[in-house]
Amino acid sequence: MKDEKEWNAFYSKPNPWGIDGSLADFTRIKIINNYFKNNKFKNGIDIACGEGFLLNNLDFIETKTGVDISKNAINRAEKKYPKIDFYVGNPFLDFELDQKFEFVSCFEAVYYLDTLEERKKALKNLLRYGKKDAIYAFSVVTIDSNKFREYFTQESFLNLLSEEYKVLKIVNLNGSYKLPIKILRKILSIFNKKIAAKLFFKYMINAKKDDIYQQLFICKSL
Ligand SMILES: C[S@@+](CC[C@H](N)C(=O)[O-])C[C@H]1O[C@@H](n2cnc3c(N)ncnc32)[C@H](O)[C@@H]1O
Repeated sequence: MKDEKEWNAFYSKPNPWGIDGSLADFTRIKIINNYFKNNKFKNGIDIACGEGFLLNNLDFIETKTGVDISKNAINRAEKKYPKIDFYVGNPFLDFELDQKFEFVSCFEAVYYLDTLEERKKALKNLLRYGKKDAIYAFSVVTIDSNKFREYFTQESFLNLLSEEYKVLKIVNLNGSYKLPIKILRKILSIFNKKIAAKLFFKYMINAKKDDIYQQLFICKSL
């Protein structure tokens, strides 16, 4: 597991992955907001929120809180989104808050923990942020592994979740698009990424297994 110092160094410049505001990002935001379009949560916490771009765009949560291990990321988040409460801490280990939440999310962070034991412990620790009957939303890469790291498969993540959570739904968030959708989407995104995401997000929701890169797991505690 990278420590606080390493994550901070990683955030020495803004948007280090170039995800925030990308077409893939607007697409996952559209998919998540679409899934929860008939739900409203009074409060929600986003674990490992980075600079807060995704959290700020979740439109089904009234009062938002974000936590990240990187002080640099949280400093930028606080400046950009003053209405959101941000904290620096490690919620996978020991970060404590008095408040409990109706919605708890953690997007693209669990696989930065190296061992299965660390991942198990982290998912268990996240339960302490949820109210009774809270909804949990976790997204991870489900391609197994690549040269960068060991991610998950859909099966291995389900297996891990099954110790503490009941999975209500799995939703595709990111992956590859078949031609000609790929070209149309790309061209349209040059003019307006949000519109390109809105027009083509359903193709990703219905993508075939081999084309899927990232999935969202919507859960309740057991
Ligand atoms: C790939 S980024 C994802 C950011 C954001 N959730 C998103 O999906 O756009 C991974 C984030 O996890 C954070 N992170 C990694 N380990 C953490 C930990 N133990 N506690 C809190 N945040 C952590 C990093 O600082 C980074 O912001």
